[in-house]
Amino acid sequence: MADLVIRNATVIDGTGSAGFKADVAIDGDRITTVGDVAENGDREIDAAGRVLAPGFVDVHTHDDGALLRHPGMEFKLAQGCTSLVIGNCGFSAAPAIPGQEGPSELIGVEPTWTDYASFSAAVTNVGPAVNAMGLIGHNTIRALVMGLEKRPPTDAELDQMREHVGQSMEQGACGFSTGLIYEPGRYCETDEVIALAAESAKRGGIYATHMRNEGDRLLEAVDEAIHIGRSAGLPVQISHHKSAGRQNWGKIGQSLAKVDEARAAGDDVTLDVYPYTAGSGPMAQYFDVDNVNPDLAEVIRFASCPAFREYEGRMAVDVAAEQGIPVTQLIRDVILAPLGDKTVCIQFIIDEADVEENLRHPQMMVGSDGIPNLNGNPHPRLFGTFPKVLGYYVRDRNILGLEEAVRRMTSLSANRFGLVDRGRVAEGLFADLVLFDPATIIDTATYDDPKQEPDGIDLVVVNGVVALENGTHARSADGTAAGRMLAYRA
Ligand code: ZN
Ligand code: CU
Repeated sequence: MADLVIRNATVIDGTGSAGFKADVAIDGDRITTVGDVAENGDREIDAAGRVLAPGFVDVHTHDDGALLRHPGMEFKLAQGCTSLVIGNCGFSAAPAIPGQEGPSELIGVEPTWTDYASFSAAVTNVGPAVNAMGLIGHNTIRALVMGLEKRPPTDAELDQMREHVGQSMEQGACGFSTGLIYEPGRYCETDEVIALAAESAKRGGIYATHMRNEGDRLLEAVDEAIHIGRSAGLPVQISHHKSAGRQNWGKIGQSLAKVDEARAAGDDVTLDVYPYTAGSGPMAQYFDVDNVNPDLAEVIRFASCPAFREYEGRMAVDVAAEQGIPVTQLIRDVILAPLGDKTVCIQFIIDEADVEENLRHPQMMVGSDGIPNLNGNPHPRLFGTFPKVLGYYVRDRNILGLEEAVRRMTSLSANRFGLVDRGRVAEGLFADLVLFDPATIIDTATYDDPKQEPDGIDLVVVNGVVALENGTHARSADGTAAGRMLAYRA
């Protein structure tokens, strides 16, 4: 007898092909039948009128630390996400020195581990609600090996960084990531990245990048990313593709044309995007305190601000007006205040038309880039990304079809990041599933009220275990859940 049978669903299997009516039987952690299921399951769920899809893969997250701090991962599970890629933008929790904070606030937890294997063991130990696959971050290993030095590495330092990439990949990581606008990654030259990406290439891994520039020099940055992939000989994932700053709006078309050209020449380049017109990240990294960019200052909103909690959820311009000071001075005051470097901001820098153009591209995956700091007012993408694509961009705006959107949240992503036997609804695959109503699915998280779980998702199954049902998050009696640390292509 099957453990669980989901009946009368419209199965959208993740390949992009049309939905079809079927029952799906699950035994243990795998899908055993897709079609007519005659036997009764230990549990039966009637899914008439709803879509059963593979669980979504959030390919761009900063959830390394969140897996430990919030193992229930409610903000991801509620969106239908069953697997995450962590370690993005050059920041990964591993490797680390126990007790020593890494280069980023994004991790948000003090390491007790040293390498990727011991980090994975720590995550496994808490029994997270979702699966995770890790990238190894350039900023993390550079800070570990040479601190925040503004110079190229010595040969010995480069060798140490190479070793970190190689060892992490042997321990299951899927590749190497950079965040070339951030400290200390921004101090590197292209050759350093090529040398480290080549370590990933040796083991069949990938290169994921928050590029050196996403605004005035976006096109040059795309050239650099493609050049790195070509020189090191590995696939490139362009993270959160955007054209930032009003003067750069509309450049997305030229940037995507470069990607298409590279693909036509045989380079394996893919991308991801979050469906919002604002970005978010560590504020101190975006400004030079001695020369605060006034255009950027105008469009900043405080997400979490431990120095001034009362600013959270407010636009910097409004706070500055209240104090009768220029907004550039407010930004400087906040960054220089005690704990000011821990400020996370939201910046309204993206054009809606560019978001839609991104979503139309067939190699565009969906990644939330959510920052899992639940204090203050986080960017709503943390809770709303996947339902927003399906409800707003698919149903309301008709930017892409439902089957195509599901493909770009599932099989395309699982293939790119080496999630074996996941990303499709098919016999023999892992039972990572989401059941939703295509007529009602929608995000409810807003900039003013961001910590809201979406509507229209009835059921999420992770490794065969019901993890979310009708708004209730399930955990077993011992407090653990069914998520796993995944190993690349294994
Ligand atoms: Zn980034
Ligand atoms: Cu990111």
